[in-house]
Amino acid sequence: MTDDIFSAGLEDLAARGLRRAATAFDGGSARTVTLDGRTLLLFCSNDYFGLSHDPRIIAAVKEGLDRYGFGSGGSRLISGTRTPHAELERAIASFLGAEAALLFGTGFSANSGVIPAIAEKGDVIFADKLNHASMVDGCRLSRAEFVRYPHCDMAALEKMLKKAGSVRTRWIITDGLFSMDGDMAPLDEICSLAKKHDARVYVDDAHAFGVLGKNGRGTPELFGVERDIDILMGTLGKAAGGMGAFAAGKKSTADWLLNKARSFIFSTAMPPAVAAGNLKAVEILGNYRTERNTFMQITEAFYDRIKTAGFAISYKSYIIPLVIGSAGDALAAAKLLWDDGIFVQAIRPPAVPEGTSRLRLTLSLAHTEQDREAVIQCLTKYLGARHKGTGP
Ligand SMILES: Cc1ncc(COP(=O)(O)O)c(C=O)c1O
Repeated sequence: MTDDIFSAGLEDLAARGLRRAATAFDGGSARTVTLDGRTLLLFCSNDYFGLSHDPRIIAAVKEGLDRYGFGSGGSRLISGTRTPHAELERAIASFLGAEAALLFGTGFSANSGVIPAIAEKGDVIFADKLNHASMVDGCRLSRAEFVRYPHCDMAALEKMLKKAGSVRTRWIITDGLFSMDGDMAPLDEICSLAKKHDARVYVDDAHAFGVLGKNGRGTPELFGVERDIDILMGTLGKAAGGMGAFAAGKKSTADWLLNKARSFIFSTAMPPAVAAGNLKAVEILGNYRTERNTFMQITEAFYDRIKTAGFAISYKSYIIPLVIGSAGDALAAAKLLWDDGIFVQAIRPPAVPEGTSRLRLTLSLAHTEQDREAVIQCLTKYLGARHKGTGP
């Protein structure tokens, strides 16, 4: 028996309301989860269009399983590449209007592999303070100098760019749509600063790929700067409903990453059937103009209602952060919703800064009007209790 070296740390996390557990739901759909015979409305997934349960995608995965088997059996550069991987890379590039795209197993592995491959000793990375953890880790793994600017503060970013002096390459690295705050990086301003100060731009559009912009090309399309982004990273685990990620840009960029990104080179390729499912999802997203418009209308209407319910929040996106404060209060608020049949996760440090624990509510086209109404009713009840001093 080895010594128990983690129990004290776990107890400490629990005392501070920061210990986590993964609830294993036993079923559900894109709009619900079930546990022990109880069905809860799911309002914290990233499955914005409900594609995780789309029958067309499920059929494509089944066909892929029959044709290619379960696993890929190897890394992409040894023996793991199959036709669906190559087709998916071409489909993503074409969807985005990019020259090429390279697949990764997850968004985390994309960011942590791509960033060290593009920024080396002698380069400087300028990163938004609220960037996703996987980008932070990618920046830490890189041998470039790594500086962080206050969230979306363009004046501070410009000051840092000026101060950097003569360096080999400057990279500005940012989320397109911030995952815990639901706001967007001002990509138009970022791209002008990049031009002015000779910097390159890397955008992680995990939460916007397929959703934002007329054609679903994400925040660069929304801000009209698609041509000014050097690398667009996106995931297939959110609006596409599956799993995986990509980095898209010039053909030479994809080739460089194929040769240099360690998380691409030294990792088993995603199962071909998953690639086939992702391929179908990208095809579906390509035809989702009406659905994107409907989703935006639903989102705007939801903000109106949530503000009427008493939450002081300005419009952000389909990611809606209801900041509560302490980790304990956020957990208690999530429990109140849970008791009323709604599953919304409490988001706590280190995912968000200390004192800003929150309920991170996400909308999905899979929800019905009644589902959204149930959430509003529940939040109204929660706010009422809070005002009376009887709730968290
Ligand atoms: C902004 C952002 N980047 C990257 C990731 C990681 O993506 P994946 O879940 O595919 O590893 C996430 C997901 O949580 C994210 O929100």
